[in-house]
Amino acid sequence: MFSLASRRVASNVTKASPAFASFRFMSSLPSTMRAAVVRETGDAHALKLEHDFPTPELKAGGVIVKNKYAGINFIDTYHRKGLYARDLPFVGGQEGGGEVAAVSEEAAAQGIKVGDRVAYSVFGSYAEYTAVPAAKLLPVPDGVDIDVATSCVVQGMTAHYLVSSAHADLIKPGEWCLIHGVGGGTCQWAAQMAKIRGYKVIGTCSKGKEDVCKNLGCDELIALDEVPGTAYEDYESMDIVQRVMEVTNGEGCKAVIDGIGKSTVDISINSLAHRGIFVSFGNASGAVPAFPVLRLIGKSAYVTRPKLLDYTTNREELLWRSNEVFGWLKEGKLNVKVDTTFPLEQAAEGHLYLEAGKSKGKVLYEI
Ligand SMILES: NC(=O)c1ccc[n+]([C@@H]2O[C@H](COP(=O)([O-])OP(=O)(O)OC[C@H]3O[C@@H](n4cnc5c(N)ncnc54)[C@H](OP(=O)(O)O)[C@@H]3O)[C@@H](O)[C@H]2O)c1
Repeated sequence: MFSLASRRVASNVTKASPAFASFRFMSSLPSTMRAAVVRETGDAHALKLEHDFPTPELKAGGVIVKNKYAGINFIDTYHRKGLYARDLPFVGGQEGGGEVAAVSEEAAAQGIKVGDRVAYSVFGSYAEYTAVPAAKLLPVPDGVDIDVATSCVVQGMTAHYLVSSAHADLIKPGEWCLIHGVGGGTCQWAAQMAKIRGYKVIGTCSKGKEDVCKNLGCDELIALDEVPGTAYEDYESMDIVQRVMEVTNGEGCKAVIDGIGKSTVDISINSLAHRGIFVSFGNASGAVPAFPVLRLIGKSAYVTRPKLLDYTTNREELLWRSNEVFGWLKEGKLNVKVDTTFPLEQAAEGHLYLEAGKSKGKVLYEI
């Protein structure tokens, strides 16, 4: 991965306090930076751009990344609202990409050097600089742009584990998979990756996103009317389960991948094949309500509620996933659509756009 020539390339070697990295290899960093910060949880305007937020310290075993892009994800809105608790104040975001600007001695020993192109998932990416442990860095190969690589880190890696691992091998190549909301970020990728894995794919999408979704390779695309006054699917505008059963000759789907949550849970369970698995990975429409386990008996079905962290448990697993995703991108097997890029100055607008359900792919901040 990284070349071992780091020490020769690095500049401005200075001693640091023992609490932090023992040596620094860096271009000079400013003491403060621009960052989109939450000091009080609330609506999108709780995210405010500050021009003098302290630049993070380089820690032992870590690097400082100078961000070019930060990804906007639904989870960032949950942190901003206080739905998922965080200590205040905090810099928003947990997905970024750019170039390494400073390297600890320990990271340098792993071959990481100033100027390396990287992407990562660590808190505090809505900022000019982010401190990242070396173990969390994804090296970005030549031929993959940083905006696309940044888009991979949460949604791309999530899509990878959803179609590769979370189904616990209960679906085999040639069998049917249902994926809701294939116009969204994660599921645009998941639909394409499910085809790469050899599954037959039924995708649902809103009619407003049909143009994008037609190019994903789904065997069957179910385009639904939008809920009046919104940009997202009205899952009651059509009998989706009936359509799934028609398409699958009454068998249903061996895996259902569902990031919509509350609005789709019944459709997902009812669309399963015998011994199929409901992979409930998100709640774009609200949390999935509790349901009795006995409900699964009709088809001896399985349910899982996975998260990315549990599918990137060590460096080997992280690199397996990122190398495969970046490889597919380089080979042209995977098409990633960056929908919109907001300047960091428009931090609130980025969150409002995502929450309105309008995105047809990845939404980024350009730092
Ligand atoms: N467990 C994990 O590892 C993991 C990882 C990443 C994301 N997630 C979660 O998965 C969910 C989707 O994330 P994403 O990054 O793919 O988001 P995204 O790119 O915004 O896509 C979500 C899709 O959900 C639909 N949608 C949005 N708001 C809605 C609403 N209020 N009601 C009904 N449908 C709505 C839209 O699809 P249509 O236009 O087709 O209706 C939208 O394209 C989020 O809850 C996120 O937190 C979980």
